[in-house]
Amino acid sequence: MTVHIIYGSDSGRTKAAAGKIAAKLDGKVINISDATTADFEGCDLLVLGSPTYGGGDLQADWETGIDLLAEADLTGKKVALFGLGDQSNYPDSFADALGALYDVVVEKGAEVVGFTNTKGYEFEVSTAVRDGQFVGLVLDQDNQAGKSEKRIASWTSQIL
Ligand SMILES: Cc1cc2nc3c(=O)[nH]c(=O)nc-3n(C[C@H](O)[C@H](O)[C@H](O)COP(=O)(O)O)c2cc1C
Repeated sequence: MTVHIIYGSDSGRTKAAAGKIAAKLDGKVINISDATTADFEGCDLLVLGSPTYGGGDLQADWETGIDLLAEADLTGKKVALFGLGDQSNYPDSFADALGALYDVVVEKGAEVVGFTNTKGYEFEVSTAVRDGQFVGLVLDQDNQAGKSEKRIASWTSQIL
């Protein structure tokens, strides 16, 4: 199974998480600023990751990368999403970037796998929540760094 993990990151936390996820899934890590349409299409499982910035926005490189993603043919492709956020300082837009990625890939006909439970997080509002679940893996390195290893392990085995 070919796995591509495409991420954007300002201060390196999402990059580090992408590396850990890649180790578990035996995948190739690609920075969204270097990605091509073929990187989205040429894999069996596509994993996309972004932190949330600006009170609910995608990471800056994803702001242009999202157009590239929207051009890719994702019909029937398995896609898993992960996002980093800060639930204490941004409880009203916690991990919203994940919701933005979700909307695009669903619109493109992808099959999203790896929904997770919101239990264990404290926030008010997040567009990453649909039908009571996060649409992917949510990590909070600002407040819950100690929980991330376990969350990554459990999410990657759920996907596999
Ligand atoms: C200016 C600024 C705005 C942020 N806005 C949000 C936000 O709206 N929602 C959220 O969940 N996290 C927010 N965060 C937290 C980051 O998403 C979090 O620190 C993340 O781990 C950074 O990932 P990176 O190191 O890969 O860039 C913000 C951080 C900064 C510095």
